Amino acid sequence: MVRVGIAGIGFMGMVHYLNYQKLRGVKVAALCEQDKTRLAGDWRGIKGNFGPPGKKMDLSQVATYTSLEDLLADESIDLIDITLPPALHPDIAVKALEADKHVFCEKPMALTIRDCKRMSAAANKSGKLLMIGHVLPFFPEYGWALKEFRSRKHGRLLGGNFKRVISNPEWLNNYWSPKHVGGPMLDLHIHDAHFIRILFGMPNTVSTKGRVKNKLAEYWNSQFDYGSKGPVVQACSGTINQQGRSFAHGFEIHFEKATLLFEFAVMGKQASYLCPPTLLTNDGKVKRPKLGSGDPMDAFRAELKEVVSCVKQQSPSTILNGDLARDAIRLCQKQTDSLLGGRSAKL
Ligand SMILES: NC(=O)c1ccc[n+]([C@@H]2O[C@H](COP(=O)([O-])OP(=O)(O)OC[C@H]3O[C@@H](n4cnc5c(N)ncnc54)[C@H](O)[C@@H]3O)[C@@H](O)[C@H]2O)c1
Repeated sequence: MVRVGIAGIGFMGMVHYLNYQKLRGVKVAALCEQDKTRLAGDWRGIKGNFGPPGKKMDLSQVATYTSLEDLLADESIDLIDITLPPALHPDIAVKALEADKHVFCEKPMALTIRDCKRMSAAANKSGKLLMIGHVLPFFPEYGWALKEFRSRKHGRLLGGNFKRVISNPEWLNNYWSPKHVGGPMLDLHIHDAHFIRILFGMPNTVSTKGRVKNKLAEYWNSQFDYGSKGPVVQACSGTINQQGRSFAHGFEIHFEKATLLFEFAVMGKQASYLCPPTLLTNDGKVKRPKLGSGDPMDAFRAELKEVVSCVKQQSPSTILNGDLARDAIRLCQKQTDSLLGGRSAKL
């Protein structure tokens, strides 16, 4: 039985808690939260953009701590699951690894490369696992794209175009603070940066143009340069001011012998595919694969299943490992450098 301690009972802490209940071989044995109402089990004030609303919980079988140090001192815990605001990720992750715990930390890994390296060094020294919550590959559309890529049946990967745009999240604290969250580059586009890294590796340079807010990228287009013979890769991401389309994401991925298409948006209260997952083949066919549930809760459950399995087997995850997560931060940082500096940035 893997015994988990969750640090931070906000939106993600609740999503993780609820999904661990659906998995075998794992138990949430401890929670740490500074808000005493939440720690006492009243989760009605927790807000998010998917999943069930927060309700009153029975936490009588769970150890509860207000201090992160006390959580780390709990010797019965094998895995610390960090669902705290991004600026707090590095310190608690390093301390947890030093306390001989495995760590699963929500994205973004950290706000700087320096902190990512500090986290990886602590993991290497302790011999414990460090996993980062990049859930996108566990969503059916992205999982499908990854499967098609890994099958190698469509020939060479020629490039791709990735989109992720949200309404300005006015309800989120510190969203536009470089020191706390890092705006949409590190909060939002990080998902695509990680996916681009998995599919294409690291580019030579990146060139980004767009709008800037508070010295952070607000809305932008990036061209990732993999050399004249390499894939042609672009991304568009950021926030818009209108609340009517709160979320949109999608991709177009080009292979020699196939193209994968998909676009999804939430308009008003209506969530729908603008283009369902579609496979175009060289013989002119348009195929629509049947994919699994599009409920984000199921993607998180699949992600946590991978985390628990890695802990049980004491083996790193090919998707959730710290190296890929650190490269994703680097891709983000270089896009910001390019946007603010007005020229392409070397990786
Ligand atoms: N994978 C995804 O799609 C996804 C979606 C949303 C959020 N996230 C990530 O999850 C993380 C948390 O985001 P969230 O939306 O749940 O935030 P949140 O603000 O809802 O929750 C954070 C919780 O941490 C608690 N906290 C803060 N400092 C603390 C401390 N020192 N000790 C104990 N508790 C403390 C807060 O009281 C709050 O309850 C972020 O890194 C965010 O980027 C990921």
